[in-house]
Amino acid sequence: MTKRISIIGSTGSIGTQALDIIRNRNSGKDSPDFEVVALSAGRNLERLIDQIKEFRPQYISILNKEDQDTIKELFPEINILKNIEEIAAISKIDIFLSAVVGITGLKANLIALQHAKRVAVANKETLVSAKHLVREYSQKYKSELIPVDSEHVAIHQCLSDHSQSEIHEILLTSSGGPFRTLDKEDLKNVTLQQALKHPKWSMGPKITIDSSTLMNKGLEVIEVNSLFDIDYDQIQVVIHPQSIVHSAVTFVDGNTIAQMSMPDMKVPIQYAIDYPKRYPIELEERFNIFSMGSLDFEFPDTNKFPALNLAYAAGRQGHSFPTALNSVNEAAVALFLEEKIQYLDIAKIIESELNQHKLIKDPCVNTILEIDKEIKERQYFQYK
Ligand SMILES: NC(=O)c1ccc[n+]([C@@H]2O[C@H](COP(=O)([O-])OP(=O)(O)OC[C@H]3O[C@@H](n4cnc5c(N)ncnc54)[C@H](OP(=O)(O)O)[C@@H]3O)[C@@H](O)[C@H]2O)c1
Repeated sequence: MTKRISIIGSTGSIGTQALDIIRNRNSGKDSPDFEVVALSAGRNLERLIDQIKEFRPQYISILNKEDQDTIKELFPEINILKNIEEIAAISKIDIFLSAVVGITGLKANLIALQHAKRVAVANKETLVSAKHLVREYSQKYKSELIPVDSEHVAIHQCLSDHSQSEIHEILLTSSGGPFRTLDKEDLKNVTLQQALKHPKWSMGPKITIDSSTLMNKGLEVIEVNSLFDIDYDQIQVVIHPQSIVHSAVTFVDGNTIAQMSMPDMKVPIQYAIDYPKRYPIELEERFNIFSMGSLDFEFPDTNKFPALNLAYAAGRQGHSFPTALNSVNEAAVALFLEEKIQYLDIAKIIESELNQHKLIKDPCVNTILEIDKEIKERQYFQYK
């Protein structure tokens, strides 16, 4: 049966890879596996136009008015919606893939949980900032929430039907990023270009910087807690430079189950779309155990990468702290991407903001967005 899919952030790294999967799966079939109902872009008009020509969605959204007008002229039959929230409200959607970056996806994800059968979330910032709301909406509207992040897809597979009480520990792996082997002193001189070169994964700029500071892993620790309700004391981050084991679960009976695959996001994206079924996939390189060589596992160096501990602390404090952590991180990474601050300032800014943050219990959507706005404006004006 053809599945109806909507993708927000279709022009980004996750979005384009999802469309690669859809193209391959639909190819040569009279009755395609997927119908692309809606696509959305931020600013990449050219890529969105190519995607519209190829996938013929009924609905699109794009940020700028001029871009909307251009699309209306080129494709008069298409419905141009105001924003990603309107895309999320389209009815009869089997899969809503949330592939936008940042807290900008929050409202759309919550709306999608009310309308789509399955919400596949790559947009980890929402899971970090609004765990209680995501859970509440998913339960209330009986929408299936499924991760796209490779580590969480690994944990999802390892957990299978096991309950929380059967879990001893989650081993959340990380490549260690591009600066794993540098001395702390050398991190002072890291440039934007160096930080944007990830050794294993090709991703959007924000998550690439997060991976280099280990904040990405910190956000993922909170994401594990958010998705699987696992206590922070049961989540151990493991540095695994080869990025073959994407995470593992140790159960109370002494069994540890790990998931392995090549470091290629198409594998977890397809899992999130197809679960519980499995279909053939086209990959550049397939997993071959005989060519793996040795696999290494190390403790993370939190002295060198303090962002990881800041994330654990914010996660443990809960309530509005993960929101504040995410917002100040988004602000600091944006400043670093604009070359307004040095690499090591990212963690310093996060720590200073969290030290000032006053906890707000169970923040609602508007409070989360107010906290986000206030933090981002403060950081922006301080460094502009
Ligand atoms: N990339 C990966 O391998 C990977 C792995 C695991 C998790 N994730 C998570 O997946 C999410 C997306 O990451 P990515 O690497 O794909 O990012 P990306 O390449 O930067 O793509 C982000 C997407 O969001 C769109 N966008 C940005 N701001 C927007 C706004 N205000 N309104 C509407 N759309 C907006 C962008 O549009 P334009 O490009 O048109 O401006 C683009 O389509 C992030 O949360 C990330 O942490 C990514």
